[in-house]
Amino acid sequence: MDDVLGYAGKSVVVTGAASGMGEATARILVDLGAQVTALDIKETKVPVARALRIDLRDRENIEQVAASIDGPIDGLFSCAGLPGPPFSEWDTILVNFVGARHLAELLVPKMSAGSAISVISSSAAIGWQDHIPVITELLETEGFDGAVNWLREHEKVWSWSGYAYSKYIIDAWVGWWYPELAKRGIRINCINPGPTETAMMPAFQNLMGKDVVDQAVGPIGRYSTPEEQAWPLVCLGSPRFSYVAGEVLWTDGGWNGAMTMGRHQAQWAEDTGEMAKRH
Ligand SMILES: NC(=O)c1ccc[n+]([C@@H]2O[C@H](COP(=O)([O-])OP(=O)(O)OC[C@H]3O[C@@H](n4cnc5c(N)ncnc54)[C@H](O)[C@@H]3O)[C@@H](O)[C@H]2O)c1
Repeated sequence: MDDVLGYAGKSVVVTGAASGMGEATARILVDLGAQVTALDIKETKVPVARALRIDLRDRENIEQVAASIDGPIDGLFSCAGLPGPPFSEWDTILVNFVGARHLAELLVPKMSAGSAISVISSSAAIGWQDHIPVITELLETEGFDGAVNWLREHEKVWSWSGYAYSKYIIDAWVGWWYPELAKRGIRINCINPGPTETAMMPAFQNLMGKDVVDQAVGPIGRYSTPEEQAWPLVCLGSPRFSYVAGEVLWTDGGWNGAMTMGRHQAQWAEDTGEMAKRH
């Protein structure tokens, strides 16, 4: 069977395409025959059809870039992200959620029926269900400015970790938004990667300590490669996965399953859960 994942000749947009999982995603999609538009604040080395600079912290810039992309778009892969320190918590939540949502909402009218939005969240989202009522308020805000205003008014809720909170939001967002997208025949899903060898990893190890990051390694016993995250993301976005929607896929080497069944301990997950509840 040729074109197993159905990307040949399809038009797709990849954010974060300059590095790590986004770069791996863009490379795989080019290899699968897709016309890739790469968006990043940095330059990508992937030989894509079109590369545009975007700053996901900047509403006007996002709007200019979105306007310059013609439809029909068959897939959006939202991979750009910041890890928190040394970047500010504010920039982190802007890039990871506010800018990502704004771009996605602007591109949806150009997306074809049968297309999909595939987002990278994180295993740091563990326990996100505890925050559904508060996060729903944020999801109900309109546009970039609506989210910014809500976040400014509720700084205590998320500022203990713009990173973890942005990932709680993404896991909630895919289930919350899909019922509306379904009317257009568009799916949305996310992956929750475990520790992955990318340019972001030193920031996590410096902030938490390597031993703490290592607690998020599943029974598989090692960090993931960027390609091991890109493939599940590319599969989720494929028309072959047409009945998978509003879903959170844990791409974590079995960590969440083992945690759920009490077969693995990660003290930091309990600590961040407690921290989140206190705010
Ligand atoms: N590396 C890990 O261990 C890990 C684990 C779980 C989830 N994640 C998530 O995976 C995603 C990809 O991260 P990665 O690990 O490949 O890191 P990375 O640093 O290699 O890639 C992140 C990309 O986002 C881009 N970016 C940053 N700020 C931007 C902005 N303002 N506007 C546009 N683009 C911007 C960067 O230029 C970079 O190309 C992120 O959402 C991250 O939170 C990473």
